[in-house]
Amino acid sequence: MALTINPINGMLGVEISGIDLSRPVDTETKQELNALFSRYAVLVFRDQPLSPPQFMKAAEVFGELMDQQIKQFVLPDYPLVGANSTKDLPRKNGKLQVRGENYHTDHSNHLKPPKATSLVAVEIPSYGGDTQFVDVRRAYADLPEAVKQKIATLRSMHVHQSSHSPRSFAKLSPEEMANIPHVLQPLVIRHPVSGEPALYLNTGRMEGIQGMSPEEGFALIAELYAHATQSIYEYRHKWRAGDMVIWDNRSVMHQANADYDPEEYRYLYRVMLNGEALIPAFE
Ligand SMILES: [Fe+2]
Repeated sequence: MALTINPINGMLGVEISGIDLSRPVDTETKQELNALFSRYAVLVFRDQPLSPPQFMKAAEVFGELMDQQIKQFVLPDYPLVGANSTKDLPRKNGKLQVRGENYHTDHSNHLKPPKATSLVAVEIPSYGGDTQFVDVRRAYADLPEAVKQKIATLRSMHVHQSSHSPRSFAKLSPEEMANIPHVLQPLVIRHPVSGEPALYLNTGRMEGIQGMSPEEGFALIAELYAHATQSIYEYRHKWRAGDMVIWDNRSVMHQANADYDPEEYRYLYRVMLNGEALIPAFE
């Protein structure tokens, strides 16, 4: 299979054509796609109107499907596939309350956060609702040497919802809450395949920095977050129905946008892939 590769923003994002993901993928192409995944962190495939079982197979090219944490949003027939639907969203003063509306990396409070998250767009509003990505490898690389040294071995406690969270997370049942982990994560991680260091940030879940006062810790998180979310590090994906996008949660942060007409329908399937415990970049 001859893939056509169009990089998007330097090493962040690549649009891939010449493949039909509803068909089985041969071993060689699988290896090529996985190499592109580690290198470019966000893979965009246009014109792949996949059904849920086809989507599961396509995502499995990159790893093993992970359980969905929020059971209320899964497809009844395919519990490993979540649904992002406008119809499930609460509203506040007429504005949709969209999940994921500030830069984050998924389930960072898990000991083994998902290595990847993937979406397939089923129905897309006429404008808005883009997904934005920022490259936290490049953001790390650009930090002044003194900052790199200061943060090299720091760790942050990731909890379900930080006391400084800019957004509210889904309300969970007591059983779900009892299973919610919290874990100390490195502030700088190393990619398990490429070996590249990256910032590991999630302002919704980080409860300060270990060994620092809350003021100092949250100030450092805010400073790194402001740095990493600059538009130079960004790829903004404008969805079309039939797009499949998969991203590496160890190399990018992502965010949703609630800027579309709440009367229009927006519907995407979502899966995650099992990850490993994060590797600190420096010990
Ligand atoms: Fe997310």
